[in-house]
Amino acid sequence: MSEDLESRFEAAVRSESRIEPRDWMPDGYRKTLIRQIAQHAHSEIIGMQPEGNWISRAPSLRRKAVLLAKVQDEAGHGLYLYSAAETLGAERGDLTEKLIAGRQKYSSIFNYPTLTFADVGVIGWLVDGAAICNQVPLCRTSYGPYARAMIRVCKEESFHQRQGYELLATMMSGTPAQREMVQDAVNRWWWPALMMFGPPDSESSNTERSMAWRIKRNTNDELRQKFVDMSVPQAERLGVTFPDPELRWNPERGHHDFGTPDWDEFWRVVQGDGPCNAQRVAHRRAAHEDGAWVREAATAHAAKRARRAGREAVA
Ligand code: 3HC
Repeated sequence: MSEDLESRFEAAVRSESRIEPRDWMPDGYRKTLIRQIAQHAHSEIIGMQPEGNWISRAPSLRRKAVLLAKVQDEAGHGLYLYSAAETLGAERGDLTEKLIAGRQKYSSIFNYPTLTFADVGVIGWLVDGAAICNQVPLCRTSYGPYARAMIRVCKEESFHQRQGYELLATMMSGTPAQREMVQDAVNRWWWPALMMFGPPDSESSNTERSMAWRIKRNTNDELRQKFVDMSVPQAERLGVTFPDPELRWNPERGHHDFGTPDWDEFWRVVQGDGPCNAQRVAHRRAAHEDGAWVREAATAHAAKRARRAGREAVA
């Protein structure tokens, strides 16, 4: 019986059919999807903190409104993704507990501080730009709810990337101090943005299996290369440079050669020892605790409505 189910599942994945919540799936497929989707959701929610830090200090009402809209979008992305994880039998409360306890990850990029308002522009341009490179292929991931969540997420990421780029273009046409502020932010965020795509393929414990199941459609290094090739002309148009002396066009490869990210730094940050890890998790824990009364009230209300509906059904 299970061999037949397994072969039907493999055939469905090979034929690019979508796997839906009620379909049979191997435990390993379910497990790695919950792992990746939960960590993706955690990244969206934690990712609200670095930029949220600047909402009250935005330099104009327009910048405040745009930043507010973006940060709200990230919350929505997190909710879509927790909902997608729940179609696999996960519980968002349990996933949040795992995040707070350090038993599930979120993207390393959000453990770096946002020191000036130029960081808000660079996060939009580079971090959301990297997210677009990584998330567009996920619109073709084999698991239906995840693929469908990605379609709206990617549309909103395009707005995020564009507003960041426009913010930087405005600053680059400003004073020398503003131009210097932008270049400083680019210097601090470039390498962590390359690390968003994960470790080199040679050190990736999940890629081979995830590619076979068509959860991932490209490898980490493929998407990193695509992001570098996309970003270089944009930087030239902005008038900024990337902090990588090895970055240059390679006509034989048809791609840009670039230096090696500091993978020791990457693993240190992933394992909790980044500039802001403790602050980000403490903030998430406090928000979860402060919101406990809302969850309790909503649960009590739902139970009361269910009891009333039960009584009416009997009457
Ligand atoms: N930060 C933290 N952990 C990371 C990481 C990163 N940047 N990159 C990889 N890791 C972890 C993996 O989770 C894995 O650990 P685990 O097995 O305990 O989960 C380990 O390092 C080995 O990495 P792999 O490459 O084998 O892991 P994956 O196959 O899962 O690939 C990934 C990592 C490319 C991030 C993949 O999980 C993915 O594509 N996830 C969906 C997209 C996503 O989560 N993006 C994060 C940013 S969200 C965002 O950008 C929001 C936007 O609005 C700004």
